[in-house]
Amino acid sequence: MTTTVLDHIGLLVTNDPNVGEGPLGIIRDAAVVFEGEHIVAVGPAGMTADRRIDAEGRCVLPGFVDSHTHLVFAGDRGDEFAARMAGRPYEAGGIRVSVAATRGASDDELRRLTQLRRAEARRAGITTVEIKSGYGLDAEHEARCLAVGRSFTADTTFLGAHVVPPEFDGRADDYVHHVCTDMLQAALPHSRWIDCFCEVGAFDADQTRAVLAAGKAAGLGLRLHANQLGHGPGVQVAVEMECASADHCTYLSDDDIAALAASDTVATFLPATDFSTRQPYPDARRAIDAGVQVALATNCNPGSSYTMSMSFCIALAVRDMHMTPEEAVLAATAGGARALRRDNVGALRPGMSADLCVLDAPSYTHLVYRPGVPLVHSVVERGVTG
Ligand code: NIG
Repeated sequence: MTTTVLDHIGLLVTNDPNVGEGPLGIIRDAAVVFEGEHIVAVGPAGMTADRRIDAEGRCVLPGFVDSHTHLVFAGDRGDEFAARMAGRPYEAGGIRVSVAATRGASDDELRRLTQLRRAEARRAGITTVEIKSGYGLDAEHEARCLAVGRSFTADTTFLGAHVVPPEFDGRADDYVHHVCTDMLQAALPHSRWIDCFCEVGAFDADQTRAVLAAGKAAGLGLRLHANQLGHGPGVQVAVEMECASADHCTYLSDDDIAALAASDTVATFLPATDFSTRQPYPDARRAIDAGVQVALATNCNPGSSYTMSMSFCIALAVRDMHMTPEEAVLAATAGGARALRRDNVGALRPGMSADLCVLDAPSYTHLVYRPGVPLVHSVVERGVTG
């Protein structure tokens, strides 16, 4: 099989402290060799291979791991966003607008729209993506959204418990039963994970526990939307149910932080959401200092965070959540991998997936220092360059 060397890397982030400086395992004047989909060597510049790509002194990092997105949807909610900027609060009920548009779209249209968003993600340096359903909200439409998502990633998440759809108005518990039975059965062949929106206006703690328990019994991994719009039971339920990740965590009490720190549950921060909903930012500094494992993700969706820019999330995390650039880069790569329980992405060492993000910059710090500038020069994804 042909080997390729990405040579003359000015600053390489490996995320492997055993091979380079600091928590990011930095190697200066470096090279990465890959063969097929996998890395075969990481080391000093000048290593040889069948094919050579010159990084011309640029900074190279592991491809971003975006562990929280809702990429399968139709329709547009730009007007809702504009109203929010004029003072209206974000409400979970807006999800129903996307549900109506998504139910009305054909499979081909949903695939085309998702393909466009996946391509945008790649241009933003994202090489691994999780995709949730949640805009179908019945067995047929959730299953087809998940089938579309599955054609782009193995990390698909059944989010039938996103909100109660109109046909179940006033019958939330009946809807939860439907999610746990017929919808789950329809979603199962296309899903790795199950998720629930635990929030006022969506599902309460007991309903959340029921959904997660049904998913677990069916063999799915657990994730949870927790503490997005206010303090609530979400984080505690996520820890109690041993979720891989509690996502949002915008509002964290001392008890929430202590519970996360004592658990294996990753706190996944979604700061582009807090930006787009004019919410406060999560107190990442306090969580990290307490020992919480953290990730950063885009939460790309039509309502609360319509962006695939991990660079933007990193800039917000440093500027407004008081993470260091190193912590933010780690959270957007190795942190995302941990949140997805993937051990082949998020770091660069032999045997890992050949997923690389080349920045048109001498250092990852420029992701924050030059906000809004498209710094991703090129991407290698599963060994495919471009
Ligand atoms: O993660 N919080 C729930 N789900 C999405 C928002 C979906 C929407 O408003 O369409 C989120 O922010």
